[in-house]
Amino acid sequence: MIYTDDNVFHLTDGAFSYAFRIKDGKPTHTYYGKALKRNSRMLAECEDAGADWAAVECGERGRGDFRIPSLALCGNGFASTDLKYVGHEITEKPELGMPALRGAVETLVVTLRDDVAKVELKLFYSVYDGALARHAELINLGDAPVTLSTADSACVDFGGGDYEYISLDGRWGGECGVTRGAVLPGVHTLGSARGITSHQHNPFVAVLRRGAGEEHGEAYGFNLVYSGGFGVRLERDEKSQVRVCIGAELYGGVTLAPRERFVTPEAVCVYSDSGIGGMSRKFHTLYRKHLINPRFADKPRPVVINSWESMYFDFDEQKLKSFIGGATGLGIDTVVLDDGWFGRRDRDDSSLGDWTVDARKLPNGLKPVIDCCKANGMKFGIWFEPEAISPDSELYRAHPEFALATRGRTGVQMRNQFVLDFSRRDVVDFIYEAMRKILSEYDISYVKWDMNRPLSDVDDAKKYIGYVKGVYSLYERITATFPHILIEGCCSGGGRLDPAILYYSPMIWSSDDSDAHERTKIQYGLSLCYPLQTLSNHVSVCPNHQTGRHTPLATRGAVASLGCLGYELNAAALGVDERAQIKAQAEAYKVDAPLILTGELYRLRSPFEDGAFCEQVTAADGSAAYVVYVVGLGQCNMPVRKLRLCGLDADARYAIAERDGAVYGGAELMYGGIRPKISGDFGAEILHITRVADGGA
Ligand code: DGJ
Repeated sequence: MIYTDDNVFHLTDGAFSYAFRIKDGKPTHTYYGKALKRNSRMLAECEDAGADWAAVECGERGRGDFRIPSLALCGNGFASTDLKYVGHEITEKPELGMPALRGAVETLVVTLRDDVAKVELKLFYSVYDGALARHAELINLGDAPVTLSTADSACVDFGGGDYEYISLDGRWGGECGVTRGAVLPGVHTLGSARGITSHQHNPFVAVLRRGAGEEHGEAYGFNLVYSGGFGVRLERDEKSQVRVCIGAELYGGVTLAPRERFVTPEAVCVYSDSGIGGMSRKFHTLYRKHLINPRFADKPRPVVINSWESMYFDFDEQKLKSFIGGATGLGIDTVVLDDGWFGRRDRDDSSLGDWTVDARKLPNGLKPVIDCCKANGMKFGIWFEPEAISPDSELYRAHPEFALATRGRTGVQMRNQFVLDFSRRDVVDFIYEAMRKILSEYDISYVKWDMNRPLSDVDDAKKYIGYVKGVYSLYERITATFPHILIEGCCSGGGRLDPAILYYSPMIWSSDDSDAHERTKIQYGLSLCYPLQTLSNHVSVCPNHQTGRHTPLATRGAVASLGCLGYELNAAALGVDERAQIKAQAEAYKVDAPLILTGELYRLRSPFEDGAFCEQVTAADGSAAYVVYVVGLGQCNMPVRKLRLCGLDADARYAIAERDGAVYGGAELMYGGIRPKISGDFGAEILHITRVADGGA
C-alpha cells in the first residue's frame, strides 16, 4: 500500500513501513522498520536538523550535507544540486530498460527539480509483498551537458544507534564469504570497478541493529539488480546516524546531453524483524515470485553431468560417447558439454568467438553426441562464452574492432582473451546469430553461459553501462527465441551472481571450487540473499581438483543437494559402489527437490564459526523439513551441539526417517533439538522430517 496523506508518504506491505515527508521542499526520511499504522504520528515526524545531518531520500552534494552523496553532478556554473519537490503520482511500475522485479505493483513517483542546475530527478518506490524496490531517473532539462559522477538507486538514512553491517566478499573459488562488522565512524565502501559484478564483492549489504542474530533482531538487506560495476557505501556520521547508498559505478562520470535521461538500476530493500534468516527468506520468496523467469521458477531442475572437470579441453566424439554411456543409468537428466567444442580450442588461448563445431574433435558435428544422449534417455546442453573473443580466433582476425579497446594502447589480455564490445549493436547481432545457428541446428535444452574476465580498455565511461545493457539484450533475444532453454549463468563461478543475471538465468554455477567443505561456506554466503533454486552445485571427484581434499561422496552429494544438483566427474571411470551411491543420491534428490527448491531456508550452523554447517529447508506449511548437517574437522572428544530446528509446527508430531522413524513433537525438535550422529572429518548427515500427526508434545 502507498499512503500519501498531508505530504507524508507511507509505503507498507503490512509488515514493514517506510516513510518520508516533504519538509522545506525536501523529501525527508522519517521511518523504516516494523509496520506502523497508517497515520502513526512518527511517520510524519523528522528531526529538526540542519542539512548536514538531516535524514533524506536523496543525498545531495554541495549545499550543506557533507556526507556521501547519492547524487552528484556538475555542469556549466554549478557543482551542486538543490532539488525541491514539485509533485508526485502513483502509477504502474515503469520499464527500466534493464532487469527489475517482475509483476505489476503500484509505484510512487516523487518529482524534484533544480532550476539552477536545470535537472529533474524522479524517485521511484515500488511496494512488493516483502520488499521495497527503488530506482531513480535524472533528466537534463538544460541546454548544456551535465556530468553525473554519482547516481545511486537508493539512499537510506538510519537514525542514531548502533549498527553493524554484513557484506559478501570473496575471490575466485571463494565467493561470498560473510563479513560482519560494526559500522564505524567514516565511510566504508564496497564495490566493483570491473565492469561485472565481481567475485570480490556481491552487490549486497545488510545493515543490522546491533545484536541482531540469525533468527532474532532487525536486519535491512539491500541488493542491486545490476550486472556491472557498482558501489555500496556506508557512512556513520557524527550523530551516529548511518547512511547507506547503493548504485551503479559511473567510472568517473557520465555526461548527459540536453534532454537526455539517466535511469538507475533497481535496488531491492528488504526489512526483517526476525534476524538475518528472516531477511534471507524474504529475499528468497521475492526472487522466486518476482524475479526468476516464471517458466523456470519453482520448477524442478535437471540433474546434469558437466564435462569440464573430467575432460577439460581433451575430448572427441568417442570419448564423449563413453562419458555419456557412463552417465547412463545414474539418474542424470542432461549431459552438458563445457568449453572446447568449437573453433580449434585445445587450450584457453584460442577460438573464443568462433562458435562453430570443431571438426577435428567432432567430425560429424554434435548430432551423434546428442543422439547418444537421447538414446540413453538424456538431454543435451552446451557451453558458450558469448562476450569473449580470443586474439587467436577467426573472429578477431576478421573483426579486431569488435573487441573493447582504447586507441593507441595494446589491449590487456586476461585468460588470454579480450572482451567483445557489447555496447555495439552489430557485435551483439553477430554473436546472437552465431548462437542462434547452433541452438536451432541442434536439439539443445540447456546452455551454460560463461564470462571469464572483467572489462578493460573501455574508451568511454558510458560504455560500461552500454556493455551491460548489450548483455541483457542478448539474453532477451536468446530467451525469446529459445524460451525452453534453461540457462545456467556462470562467471568463472559466481563472479556475476546478481539479481539481474538471475532474471534471465534461473540458476548460476556458484563457484569453480567444487570441494564440498569449501562449498558449505560459499553456499552459506550466497544464501543470504539468493534462493537455493538458483545455486548450481556439482559433485566432483576426489582428490578435489581445486583443493586436493578428500571428502566422502555422501558429503559431496549432501552439500550439492542444497540447490540444483549436478555431477562433474568422469562417469565412465566410476566403480560399482560409486555408481550405486550416485544413483541413490540422484533418485533421492528428485524426491526431495520440490521441498529443497521452494521451501523456507533456516541456517542452523555457520561454517564461518567452527567449520560445521547445517541448513534446514522447511515446507511453508510446516509439513516437512530437509536437514543437511556437515562436520568440519572432526575432533577428539567432540563437543555435542544439538541442532535446534526451526519453522515447524510446535503442536504437530514429526517422524525422523533417519532415526528409525522416531516421532517427536515439533516443540521438542525446535526447543530441544536433535543430536547429530556423525562426527568424522567432513562427515555429513541428511535428515528427513515429516509431520505425521497434529497436536503433539
Ligand atoms: C569457467 C567456468 O567457471 C568453468 O566451470 C568452466 O566452464 C570454464 N570456465 C571453461 O573454460
